[in-house]
Amino acid sequence: MSALLEVRNLNKRFGGNEAVKDVSFDLEPGECVVLAGDNGAGKSTVIKMISGVYAPTSGTVTLRGDVLTGKTPEAVRNAGIETIYQDLALADNLDPGLNLYLGRERTRRILGLPFLDRKTMRDDAARVMKTLGITVPDPSAPVREMSGGQRQAIALARAVHWKAGLVILDEPTAALGVPEQREVMALIERMKQQGVGIILISHNLPDIFAAADRIIVLARGVVAGERRPDETSDEEIVRMMMGATL
Ligand SMILES: Nc1ncnc2c1ncn2[C@@H]1O[C@H](COP(=O)(O)OP(=O)(O)OP(=O)(O)O)[C@@H](O)[C@H]1O
Ligand SMILES: [Mg+2]
Repeated sequence: MSALLEVRNLNKRFGGNEAVKDVSFDLEPGECVVLAGDNGAGKSTVIKMISGVYAPTSGTVTLRGDVLTGKTPEAVRNAGIETIYQDLALADNLDPGLNLYLGRERTRRILGLPFLDRKTMRDDAARVMKTLGITVPDPSAPVREMSGGQRQAIALARAVHWKAGLVILDEPTAALGVPEQREVMALIERMKQQGVGIILISHNLPDIFAAADRIIVLARGVVAGERRPDETSDEEIVRMMMGATL
């Protein structure tokens, strides 16, 4: 029996600060785990150790049994983990098609010379976005001109297009308007149904309870507890975030 993702005894020290202490959890395909916790609890540090941005001080991460620890962010992404940040997700000056293929651009040869195959990339982007129910006013406009929700949606389309087995979202809706928040939460639900594993970081309790199959609460770098939404309450989760022992 092997999980999609296994996080084992992750530790991260920044100088004298033990930001993450002995964090372990598993994730199954199609499952959404929410990492909850107060500011500075260690949530982003945990996901950065999964996505290859930080090397753990100790501990391991495996995807379908393959060790990811020590790989570069690019290698982790190629292994099937797409990490989506509110601001870092997209290249502003490029259209959705080029963003879809960012770092993996399609070229075609004309008279033996490689040219970016913009049409194929745009058509692919349009097709993936249509499948996901995403609409953008002008698919050839740079993403700079798009709303926060549309940008998130394009980043999610990229995860779907490259068949990421696991998508990590760090506060995806924090800066969005209400309709865009709903759109992102609906996309998360659709990806789950396709068997994609999701790690979601959120401070928003209604979002947490709507999306999570399991809620893992971090407090001062340690796992304060783990609950299914149907066996806990807002009050208990908040208490755990505050580091109260149960
Ligand atoms: N690059 C870094 N260098 C030094 N300390 C860091 C670094 N990144 C995070 N920390 C520290 O690690 C701890 C956990 O930070 P982290 O960003 O993981 O928190 P978080 O749970 O994501 O908080 P938030 O909800 O505010 O985003 C904090 O004490 C923070 O100051
Ligand atoms: Mg954070």
